[in-house]
Amino acid sequence: MSILELDNVTLKFGGLTAVNKLSFSVEQGEVFAIVGPNGAGKSTVFNLISRFYDPYEGSIRFDGHDLLKQKASGVASFGVARTFQNIELFDHASVLQNLLVGRHRHRQSNFLSELFFTPSVKRQEMQNRQLVEEIIDFLDLQAYRDKMIAGLPYGVRKVVEVGRALATDPKLLLLDEPASGLSVEETSDMRWWIDDIRRQMGITVLMVEHDMGLVSGVSDRVLALADGAKLALGTPSEVQSHPAVIEAYLGKAS
Ligand SMILES: Nc1ncnc2c1ncn2[C@@H]1O[C@H](COP(=O)(O)OP(=O)(O)O)[C@@H](O)[C@H]1O
Ligand SMILES: [Mg+2]
Repeated sequence: MSILELDNVTLKFGGLTAVNKLSFSVEQGEVFAIVGPNGAGKSTVFNLISRFYDPYEGSIRFDGHDLLKQKASGVASFGVARTFQNIELFDHASVLQNLLVGRHRHRQSNFLSELFFTPSVKRQEMQNRQLVEEIIDFLDLQAYRDKMIAGLPYGVRKVVEVGRALATDPKLLLLDEPASGLSVEETSDMRWWIDDIRRQMGITVLMVEHDMGLVSGVSDRVLALADGAKLALGTPSEVQSHPAVIEAYLGKAS
């Protein structure tokens, strides 16, 4: 069963067609990767799904909903969470605080109940804490729990960003270049986190990634893009050996 379906989606920036009549669907529970040279339109696809941009044409459906009828905040409440190509965390807050921010969309209280800190607000707060502590354990972040983001190594911040996305309790996790800037060892750890997120948490993962080792190691299917259009779609080995993909990479050498 597909959880996400893009059909004939086009987005233009002035005269530039960043995404060109693109159709693909992501199955429930799979890890699906989008690869392609720089400027291929990969991040733009994420920005379309997140509703930062309105497509020029086409449709996007998620979990039975027409996403194009939603605002960005509506997309998050349906269970879509993302990380960014350039990490976006609160630098002057702790790991724990950043993860608690991820819980925000689950707050069901109103101003008055919060003012008087009613039992239901208290219960909600305890549930939030518990879930966030579970994510800290899951991603092995205990040593950094109370440390400020600004002082953390880059590789740890990347993992915290994944944790913050997980804290929203998503059905679909969008990862934009999860391995960029990571060492070989950190990339290998990231591979296992992604595998565990899918297997243990049952979350569908859509990622953009340049590291073909990571893509092949963790993805069920891969979509290769060039100039906003589909070049090839299939298993990692099918896509890597596809003549159009080889040509696009040799031609643009990104
Ligand atoms: N906000 C924007 N305004 C104008 N052009 C953009 C914008 N965002 C991306 N582009 C252009 O759209 C194309 C696709 O960009 P992007 O999706 O970021 O590529 P990728 O993530 O595959 O490297 C590029 O040519 C890029 O310069
Ligand atoms: Mg990008």
